Amino acid sequence: MFDLKITNATLPDGRTNMGIGVKEGRIAALQANLAGEAGETIDAAGQLVSPPFVDCHFHMDATLSLGLPRLNESGLLLEGIQIWGELKPLLTHEVVIERALAYCDLAVSQGLLAIRTHVDVCDERLLGVEALLEVKRQVAPYIDLQLVAFPQDGYYRYPGAQDLLRRALDMGVEVVGGIPHFERTMADGARSVTALCELAAERGLLVDLHCDETDDPMSRHIETLAYETQRLGLGGRVNGSHLTSMHSMDNYYVSKLLPLIAEAGVSATANPLINIGIQGRHDTYPKRRGMTRIPEMLRHGITCSFGHDCVMDPWYSLGQADMLEVASMGLHVAQMTSREAMRQCFAAVTTGPASIMHLDGYGLEPGCKADMILLQAADPIEAIRLKATRLAVIKSGKLIARTAPRQTELHLPGRPPLVDAATLGPKL
Ligand code: FE2
Repeated sequence: MFDLKITNATLPDGRTNMGIGVKEGRIAALQANLAGEAGETIDAAGQLVSPPFVDCHFHMDATLSLGLPRLNESGLLLEGIQIWGELKPLLTHEVVIERALAYCDLAVSQGLLAIRTHVDVCDERLLGVEALLEVKRQVAPYIDLQLVAFPQDGYYRYPGAQDLLRRALDMGVEVVGGIPHFERTMADGARSVTALCELAAERGLLVDLHCDETDDPMSRHIETLAYETQRLGLGGRVNGSHLTSMHSMDNYYVSKLLPLIAEAGVSATANPLINIGIQGRHDTYPKRRGMTRIPEMLRHGITCSFGHDCVMDPWYSLGQADMLEVASMGLHVAQMTSREAMRQCFAAVTTGPASIMHLDGYGLEPGCKADMILLQAADPIEAIRLKATRLAVIKSGKLIARTAPRQTELHLPGRPPLVDAATLGPKL
């Protein structure tokens, strides 16, 4: 007897007619036409059941603060950092918690149940750290929230950042962050990468650096990050976020760099919505897209993911916690249009970031946590195409969000009176 059974599910790997049996919050059985009674049954009606969406690059301390204290008129990363610097002293513990919880509500409605958020430690009060640790505790029953100690104003550039970052780790932040391209010199940037990796090795922590978020092709901190990862034996525990300079790098240099990243076991996160908006701003035409080289990294066996990065904050005024929108932008910017590449884009917002975050029990196999989403789509490609409605969001075997299927009525002369617009178009 299962607590919950999902019938007639299509899985991301293409298996159809699958039954998923859940017992005590875990997947107890998964097979075609699964037999057995259940306390509750959900008929997936042939639609896609996937593990939940995962966002391994976000800024929850800044989210939903758009326009405070002013809007970003230039659209530049640096103006965003300046505005955030103006807002920081005005923040209160309560307001950060309130906005973060509102974002988590939105995330759940979109089937996004695991988030790695950077939290700015360049603040003597460490207000964001305290607030997000509280949020992490509150949302633990429904969202896996992982915190990165992020020295936004520079590990060496901001006075006291080295001590503040350590204090944040002492308080329970579990990932070491950094921003080498924002340090005063290339040398300081490289030095910060070394110091931050050593700190993580010393404390047994993961590393996730904002790395080379610039159009400068000579910004090569990813090289140092790969080197230090290998030197310190941190393979599989280090992620490079953004890596946008790689877009502009010389091809010969990249042909040497990618095998080094693969060899070191460093993973990568691109943030397509943000970087298509922020990069290339000093160009006239042609304008560079500024997203890192995801298809090439995948070909080298590097674990990749797409992150949302920002929603309604000083860097990005749009967004709705929709990881399918993120995947869609990544797909277009990277020209990942083959059937296989489109499936890789779905993986870049599910299994890829789950592995980067070292999520325990993630996936659709017996023994995994019973965290699942039912999408109004036949497969991962259709899910991206339609930004599919999240019909059901299940956490630990319990339904925590439900959305009515998208359906449009058409009243046109000479046409059938009702068409489900969401499923219009050919099936492949
Ligand atoms: Fe970021």
